[in-house]
Amino acid sequence: MTAPKKVTVTGAAGQIAYSLLWRIAAGEIYGPEIPVELRLLEIPDALGAAEGVVMELADSAFPLLHKVVLTDDPAVAFDGANAAFLVGAKPRSKGEERADLLQANGKIFGPQGKAINDHAADDVRVLVVGNPANTNALIAAAAAPDVPAERFNAMMRLDHNRALAQLAGKLDRPTTAFERLVVWGNHSATQFPDITWATVDDRPVRELIDGDWYTGEFIPRVARRGAEIIEVRGKSSAASAASSAVDHLRDWVQGTEQWVSAAIPSPGVYGIPEGLVVGLPTVARGGRWEVVEGLDLTDFQRERIAVNVTELEQERDAVADLLP
Ligand code: NAD
Ligand code: LMR
Repeated sequence: MTAPKKVTVTGAAGQIAYSLLWRIAAGEIYGPEIPVELRLLEIPDALGAAEGVVMELADSAFPLLHKVVLTDDPAVAFDGANAAFLVGAKPRSKGEERADLLQANGKIFGPQGKAINDHAADDVRVLVVGNPANTNALIAAAAAPDVPAERFNAMMRLDHNRALAQLAGKLDRPTTAFERLVVWGNHSATQFPDITWATVDDRPVRELIDGDWYTGEFIPRVARRGAEIIEVRGKSSAASAASSAVDHLRDWVQGTEQWVSAAIPSPGVYGIPEGLVVGLPTVARGGRWEVVEGLDLTDFQRERIAVNVTELEQERDAVADLLP
């Protein structure tokens, strides 16, 4: 029998995990032939609720689900992990920005980065979902000096999928008809959903929509969609976040030639300082993200990207005490 892949999920009693765990257990990350072992981390107060989640996973009788471990000890949770979804963190409330969570959530990610460093498998891939995701990924990576920094990503795929959904609605085409879309920057209100090179059925999207809709409606709608969901639903996005997290990890492992937006440590491209965890146009090959390089940027694009760089540098400076 093929050895199971070990997948750690933090925040196992939370609302995102309640969708995410079922998708992982169904084999969506590693494919339908590979068994999965879930390793779930929660804080002590939430272990009881997480035990109920474990019971429901058992009751789902997934053919690929080999084993489930639930713990409040990061060393146990990340032991042998091939993939880790760092979801466990406080969500924002109405009226807050994600960066307002930095002081409360930032301190979660250093100890988890260290546990990943000390206990995870050599091929571990980490996706930070807990907000503010980009800077939390920076904190986790900094605490894991033996793991290549490129293995710590933050989630921009939800923003990418939101951008696809807005375009699909506007042009009445399926999301699959669109290519070469990117969301640059921070998973925050300054993010830059960019249609400069986007095509629909091989036609440039920019030929089909007007500039006012692009800058006045599309960009702010996508960038503020998280807040809109909180306003309408009363809670932050959960199933769409879980679905996008699956998209990210699946593509990272299995590869994609389609442009997707992944927040990865900048290799020093497009004027973005090396190391900042930032949404970039990427494809995935051989288990690694590759930045789509060689794109010519307009002044408009450079300005939008620069705003994100400034914000990410400010976030990094605000957690300097959590960075070695
Ligand atoms: P939730 O409150 O429903 O669940 C969070 C869970 O994390 C809770 O069960 C809590 O006990 C647990 N937790 C807290 N600290 C922990 C720790 N140190 N170790 C392990 N578990 C811990 O929240 P949610 O709706 O599932 O959202 C989780 C996070 O994801 C939030 O920060 C939210 O803002 C963020 N989020 C990010 C994106 C994105 O696109 N990056 C999208 C949606 C939500
Ligand atoms: C989202 O984009 O839905 C999440 O980051 C939750 C939030 O606070 O907006």
